[in-house]
Amino acid sequence: MSSISIIGLGQMARVLADRALDGGNTVEVIGRDAAKAAEVAGALGRGATAGTVGAAPAGDIVILAVPHGSAVPLVGQYGDALAGKVVVDITNPFNSSATGVVTPDGTSVAREVAKAAPASVHVVKAFNTVFGHVLAQRRPLDVFIAGDDARAKASTSAFIESIGLRAMDTGGLEMAQWLEGAGVLMMGLGRQGVGNYDFSLGVSIAA
Ligand SMILES: NC(=O)c1ccc[n+]([C@@H]2O[C@H](COP(=O)([O-])OP(=O)(O)OC[C@H]3O[C@@H](n4cnc5c(N)ncnc54)[C@H](OP(=O)(O)O)[C@@H]3O)[C@@H](O)[C@H]2O)c1
Repeated sequence: MSSISIIGLGQMARVLADRALDGGNTVEVIGRDAAKAAEVAGALGRGATAGTVGAAPAGDIVILAVPHGSAVPLVGQYGDALAGKVVVDITNPFNSSATGVVTPDGTSVAREVAKAAPASVHVVKAFNTVFGHVLAQRRPLDVFIAGDDARAKASTSAFIESIGLRAMDTGGLEMAQWLEGAGVLMMGLGRQGVGNYDFSLGVSIAA
């Protein structure tokens, strides 16, 4: 069982919180609107609690379920309140047409989050290649992850497995930029090859 804090009260936050609770994890949802956070926690039930942005998160794993532009400022705002935490960045820094990313070449939101965080924080990129509505369907999925710290990746993987999904390690945090690129790839597939967004990206391993 993991203790999870989720910052954000939108689509991804709610579905991740719901899945996390189903997997027997403890969940705190954190939003800048305290009343809305309490409402979301109440609707989730199963012991979910509400936290306020800026106060030390209760969870050992803190998921940033916010727009990409909010991730780095938020981590800066938290500062030492995040010390020792595993921070999971799920963001996709799409441009306005979702045909590219707005991050400069050679970096990623996850890398910038790691730079902004205290040294004791370990950042893991995960869940950005999973559509929220597909996650809500409870079908088997691969969740690609990237990060520099083996223990942080192990605890993130344990959380992913607890909700019935398969964690697929892609390597160090330098791989986060390609995971963010894979988010763009998924949008292209949705527009063209698949023709809708009701699909997932996964690995098929030859027997
Ligand atoms: N939706 C998907 O299928 C999907 C899939 C993979 C990855 N992602 C990524 O997941 C992230 C969240 O997506 P979403 O679809 O859940 O977005 P969303 O429904 O728009 O929710 C975003 C949430 O972030 C909160 N927020 C924004 N800035 C904040 C700040 N500075 N401090 C605290 N909370 C803040 C918003 O709070 P307020 O209500 O107060 O504005 C809102 O609750 C995005 O980065 C997205 O790229 C989404």
